Amino acid sequence: MSQTEIELEKLRAELRRHEHLYYVLDQPELSDAEYDRLMRELASLEARHPELVTSDSPTQRVGGKPREGFVKARHSMPMLSLDNALNPRELREFDRRVRDLIPGEEFAYVAELKLDGLSVAVRYRDGVLHQAVTRGDGLTGEDVTANARTIRSLPLRTNGGDFEVRGEVVMPRAAFMRLNQEREEAGLPRYANPRNSAAGSLRVLDPSITAGRQLDFYAYFYIVNGDYGRPSQWDALETLAELGFKVNPARQKCAGLTELEEFIHEWETKRDSLPYEIDGVVAKVDVLDQQRRLGWTAKAPRWAIAYKYPAREAETVLEEILVQVGRTGVLTPVAVLRPVTVGGVTVARATLHNEDEIARLDLEIGDKVLVERSGDVIPKIVRVTQRGESRRPFRLPEACPVCGSNVVRVEGEVARRCVNSSCPARLKESILHFARRSVMDIDGLGEALVDQLVDRKLVGSVADLYDLTAEQLAGLDRMAEKSAANLHASIAGSRTQPLERVLNGLGIPFVGERTGQILARAFGTLDAIAAADPARLQAAEEVGPKVAESIRGFFSEPHNRELVERLRGAELRFTEESRGPQIGSLTGKTFVLTGTLPSLTREDAKARIEASGGKVSTAVSKKTSFVVAGEDAGSKLEKARQLGIAIIGEPELMEMLNA
Ligand code: IVH
Repeated sequence: MSQTEIELEKLRAELRRHEHLYYVLDQPELSDAEYDRLMRELASLEARHPELVTSDSPTQRVGGKPREGFVKARHSMPMLSLDNALNPRELREFDRRVRDLIPGEEFAYVAELKLDGLSVAVRYRDGVLHQAVTRGDGLTGEDVTANARTIRSLPLRTNGGDFEVRGEVVMPRAAFMRLNQEREEAGLPRYANPRNSAAGSLRVLDPSITAGRQLDFYAYFYIVNGDYGRPSQWDALETLAELGFKVNPARQKCAGLTELEEFIHEWETKRDSLPYEIDGVVAKVDVLDQQRRLGWTAKAPRWAIAYKYPAREAETVLEEILVQVGRTGVLTPVAVLRPVTVGGVTVARATLHNEDEIARLDLEIGDKVLVERSGDVIPKIVRVTQRGESRRPFRLPEACPVCGSNVVRVEGEVARRCVNSSCPARLKESILHFARRSVMDIDGLGEALVDQLVDRKLVGSVADLYDLTAEQLAGLDRMAEKSAANLHASIAGSRTQPLERVLNGLGIPFVGERTGQILARAFGTLDAIAAADPARLQAAEEVGPKVAESIRGFFSEPHNRELVERLRGAELRFTEESRGPQIGSLTGKTFVLTGTLPSLTREDAKARIEASGGKVSTAVSKKTSFVVAGEDAGSKLEKARQLGIAIIGEPELMEMLNA
């Protein structure tokens, strides 16, 4: 091997390790900037030696041109489905059948969460990702290799040889909600649920689209030579984790029905806290030899069952439809429902998205409807169950319900928008967006305050926020002097937010968190972005014609340019600064935060540590310098004690920060 080859392999191995830490274990050791730097280093070395680029290099996730269609591929062994148990009785019957078929034998179930996505088989040859195939009809599926390669939790290279892994491709709830919001703003139809959007995203012809969709892969079967590759399912899961796959940590070996029922019950109450949706629990008889003897029916194994959680839906009456105006002026109909409990939560509102949705549902006010609460928090109307006797149709108003301006339905868009860019409703929404934690993070600027600021004409654009005095704030209703001072400080503090957040805060259609980051990194300054023509903008990763046009359009509007100048005057950051660790009092130290600190939020503590050059990691290891423990600290504290790592509290942390 040449010196270059050695160097390339070293860089790749390092990047692979960090991809695994970040995307599989969710325990990054590097900042984004450091990771990007490594990636750029590899990319530039490869650019100088194109003959040494290998398909399993971390630079090669998104490659190739959009294709014409998908090729079919046969499965190594059938990908069948599972029988369902829809209630505890059916689960007991399943358990009885198993016990009858292997009489007198002891056995265990492996309980896994049933992720709501689509199953995919991925083949590795010599440890390298070779082919990914959708389930299809169970015997043949579609070859989606180029798209699957963009899923960052799916390793391109492992230290296994020839094997196949099967698992579920899912779209995390947060990614799903972001995607639908973007689609709505773009006038595209929404995806109905994360499963459909995961399937849609994996089956697009252009892999660069899949890459932007933040899909995830959870492994659950390990297959070698057309057969299960380990003597038990539990071993198989451990092997997969060792090979670098993401294996759901929420799994349990259950000694029998009772433990299985407990697992099912536990996750039914915790399912809302998961980052992705589940629709039940899968139980598999653990030992392969017993699975063999239990065998298969024509369509499903006898050794496994899918316990489905009951749908979280209920019937109620649609009492009224209200209209909300969003920050881009889009009018959104909102259903007002007769309050009803759905899966333990009282529901009184549901989104209707747009007029087309209302037409699709053939919905009128007064109808009886079926309401469903899925993982994405906002309840939705599934269908009309009974037409109301005195039902009356709904039409979106021709004038904005807030400012009375014209409402237009833009060519090719589903949505109607208020044309008035200074409509108070739009202004309020854009200020709330600007203040969000993930945007400029202005703590304490909520709906009630924004209403007052806009209604009293104290604020006519986000730039006005920076001119507010503490006295003005203290003069607002229900505003104590102390909270006015805090809010004032928090507005002032937002000046140090990085360029990517300022970009997001501007409210340019299609420019959210992710595009903000991409633009900030690619251009470095706000002025460079404002001056770039569409072609230059599109040269940035993931920026398509529509986004480029939107950015151009934004900066060519005189009043937007004025807003930008005022924000410059307010001294917001218009230049990208390296987000890597700065040299400070904590350089070289790694912290782990656990429990609730007396005054700092976790975000605050993290930001301050990083600002002083320290690192914050989520897991305690030998590399941890300090564990900062607050109230109700849990297992991390235990681990720190075991490893003999220094444990400190907030006061000590403050002292170090001030040093
Ligand atoms: S095992 C032959 N394990 O549920 C058995 N399936 O209803 C194949 N699913 O098609 C499935 N999580 O798409 C298995 N931990 C898990 C799962 C899981 C989700 C899905 C999968 C499958 C369907 C069966």
